[in-house]
Amino acid sequence: MKKNKDSIILGIESSCDDTSAAVLINGKIHSNVVANQEVHTNYGGVVPELASRAHQQNIVPVVDQAIKQANISTNELSAIAFTKGPGLLGSLLVGTSFAKSMSLGLNIPIIDVHHMKAHIHAHFIQTYNENEKSVPEFPFICLTVSGGHTQIVLIKNYLDMTVIGETIDDAAGEAFDKAAKLLGFEYPGGPLIDRHAKKGDHSKYKFTYPKVEGLNYSFSGLKTQFLYFLEKNKKEDAQFIDKNLADICSSYQDHIISYLFKNVKKAMDKTGCKDLAIAGGVAANSALRKHLQNLGKQEQYNTFIPAFEYCTDNAAMIAMSGYFLYQEGQFASQDISPKARITF
Ligand code: KG4
Ligand code: ZN
Repeated sequence: MKKNKDSIILGIESSCDDTSAAVLINGKIHSNVVANQEVHTNYGGVVPELASRAHQQNIVPVVDQAIKQANISTNELSAIAFTKGPGLLGSLLVGTSFAKSMSLGLNIPIIDVHHMKAHIHAHFIQTYNENEKSVPEFPFICLTVSGGHTQIVLIKNYLDMTVIGETIDDAAGEAFDKAAKLLGFEYPGGPLIDRHAKKGDHSKYKFTYPKVEGLNYSFSGLKTQFLYFLEKNKKEDAQFIDKNLADICSSYQDHIISYLFKNVKKAMDKTGCKDLAIAGGVAANSALRKHLQNLGKQEQYNTFIPAFEYCTDNAAMIAMSGYFLYQEGQFASQDISPKARITF
């Protein structure tokens, strides 16, 4: 039976290497299913062709599971929200085509969602069994750090966001993953650097900062700096990495975090915001989370970190974005196509 008064939104995420579906009922998450793709671990990065094939295999069971876990039937859905971009085109096409066909079959609207805005909307996610939780107050600053993006965003309202600083080349996640690859870790190596860094001395090795205008970042030089650092030390001691792994990870990680927060502090001063949030896959990093909390105490900012499962790619955040757009009646038409690159 269709519950017309309820808004029931199915969210679909397929921008990179996670296939995910979630159900949001009246603004609360009832299910969030994520299928990770193991297929890329040995390649040192996401292989686009393999990613789209895996999405194709995963999408039906993942959506089916999300619907079942939410205890609803597909004909109760009010709308389908999907990631339009940015991301890998072949991956985005799977989610977009699926959302379009399903909406045609059910005769319900589709809502196109910006993946990076959705990472920020993860702060407003509440599950059906959760009490009221504190959320950032507008305007606030969000540092969005993922495998593909590094942005400082000024959020004036749910649907009014401006990027005020961003990387001019690699993302912070890439800086983690590329260094991890040089250390011999599987992809994605960011979480492994985090794990090894826990036992290390963050002040043992020093790296330098690039000169970049305004609130922007540059991470491409850091990868080269790290490569030369390893090569130089390996020449002196072939066992250098094995003997110093924790200290290397901790120093490198600390360098990235300090660099990120240098500009965040400037952004807070410039905008006068009192609320500071982090989002995106790299926001799962334990030292980054700790640094945010310490900065908050020191500067008297209110700080916000999404729940761990809503930091990395997930469809709950897509459904959440979809909900804000649904309330404004912002729907997409059937001729919409995904975009690998889109601005805010
Ligand atoms: O947001 P996300 O899941 O996907 C993109 O939209 O890119 O972010 C993935 C990135 C990867 O670079 C991964 O290594 C990084 O987030 N990441 C971490 C941690 N967990 C995920 N980086 C450092 N420490 C972590 N604990
Ligand atoms: Zn992401």
